Amino acid sequence: MSAPVRFDPAAGGLRGALRVPPDKSISHRAAIFAAMAQEPVRVRNYLDAADTNSTLAAVEQVGALVQRHGAGELTIRGCGLRAPHESERTVDVGNAGTLMRLLPGWLAAQPGRSWTFDGDASIRKRPVDRVARPLRMMGATIEATDERFPPFTLRGADLRAIDYEMPVASAQVKSCVLIAGMHTAQPTTVVEPAPSRDHTERMLAKAGVPVARDGGRVSVSLVDELQLDAIDVPGDLSSAAFWVAAAVLVPGSRIVLEDVNVNWTRTGFLRIVERMGGIVLGDLEPHGAFTPGEPVSELDVAHGPLTATTVEPEEVPLAIDELPLVALLGCFADGQTVVRGAQELKVKESDRIQTVVDGLRGLGAEIEATDDGFVVTGTGSLRGGRIASHGDHRLAMLGAIAGLASQEGVEVEGMEAAAVSYPGFTADLARLLAR
Ligand code: S3P
Repeated sequence: MSAPVRFDPAAGGLRGALRVPPDKSISHRAAIFAAMAQEPVRVRNYLDAADTNSTLAAVEQVGALVQRHGAGELTIRGCGLRAPHESERTVDVGNAGTLMRLLPGWLAAQPGRSWTFDGDASIRKRPVDRVARPLRMMGATIEATDERFPPFTLRGADLRAIDYEMPVASAQVKSCVLIAGMHTAQPTTVVEPAPSRDHTERMLAKAGVPVARDGGRVSVSLVDELQLDAIDVPGDLSSAAFWVAAAVLVPGSRIVLEDVNVNWTRTGFLRIVERMGGIVLGDLEPHGAFTPGEPVSELDVAHGPLTATTVEPEEVPLAIDELPLVALLGCFADGQTVVRGAQELKVKESDRIQTVVDGLRGLGAEIEATDDGFVVTGTGSLRGGRIASHGDHRLAMLGAIAGLASQEGVEVEGMEAAAVSYPGFTADLARLLAR
C-alpha cells in the first residue's frame, strides 16, 4: 500500500466546472450487452477504471473482441446471444461485483458449457448466492465456495422461465435474471420489493428487447439478438456525489458538474441532500419516467447550512452507494440523521456500516452503527485525523471529502482504491481548488 494521502481543509471552497467520469454501472452493462450482440457496437465515453477494465477483460475471455480507439471510445465485436466463443475458462472479475453478478446471467444460458469466476480478496467475501438461487431455479448449475462465495463454477443449461420474487432490492440480481430471461421460451419476471436502478431495462429496451414493467414486476421475453449500434455513457452520479457533498459542506463553494446521469432511480442522494437543505440545481428526471435512453443534466451546487433527515428503507436502493456521504453530511447537519433498512451496506466493497462508522468516528464524528444503518448526531463540524479505505474506493473518497470539510485535515490510508471507479479523483480535486 502507498503512503497516506493528506486532504487539507479547503479554505475558500471549491469552485469551477467539471466533467465527472463516465458511469460505472452503465459502462459494465455497455460492455456485457455489446459482447452479447451480433453486430459491432460502438461505445463512447466508456469508464477507464479498474472495475470496468475488468469487464472488458472478462468479455474478451468469453470471446468478444475489444478495439480501443482512445479516450473512452471502443468498438466491441460480440459473439451473439447464444454463442460465447470461449468456455472452460476462468473469468477474473477483479473487484467488480456488478460484473460478477451480471455476466453469469448470459453464460448460464449456454447449455453444457462452463466457466469459473474468481476475483480479488474483497470480492471473495461478497455473496453470489443471490444470483445462484434464481439461476439454479432456471436450470443452471452453480458450485460456490461455502455455498455462497467466489470462486464459483457455473454450468449453463437450456433455461426455463421463472417468476422470481427478489428477497432484497438489488439491481444486480434483477439484471442477472433479466439477462437469463432473454433466453427462456416463456417470459421471465422479477419482482422487486422496492425500485432499484433500471439501467439494464433501459439498455435492453433500446436494443429492441421486449421489456415490460408493471409496478414492481419487470418481465422480459425471448429474443434472437440485441440491436445496439452505439452506446453513449453519461457521467456517473455516484462520482458526482462526492463533489456535491464537498460543495454543500465547504463554505465559499459553487461548482457545476456537467453531463451527469440523472435517471430517477439513481438520484436518491440528490433528493436527500435537498431535504437536508442543500442547494443542487439540475433538470432531474421525475419519478415514474422510463425512457429507453438515459437522461443527463448539469448539476449546479452551492454551499449552505444543513438540517438532519431520516432515510427510510424504500429510499435506500436509490442512494445505496451514496449512503456513506449521507453519514458525512449528517455530521454537519443540525439534529440527528438516521439511515434505516440499509443492511445491504454490509456486503459492499467493504462492510460499509462498520467501515463508515469506525472511519468517521475516528475523525471525531458522533455516529453509531445500527443493525440496518447508522445514526449520526450533527455537531456542525468534524475534527479530522486518519481514516483507512479498507481497499474500498468509496471509503477512500469519503475520507478525502471529509478532509476538505474538516478543521484539521484528513489523511487517507489506501487512497489508491479510488481508481476502482474514479482514477482522476485527486486531479479533479486540484482543479476545483485552483484559483
Ligand atoms: C449496481 C447495483 C448496486 C450498487 C452497485 C452497482 C449495479 O448493487 O451498489 O455499486 O450496477 O447494478 P446491488 O444491486 O447489489 O444493490
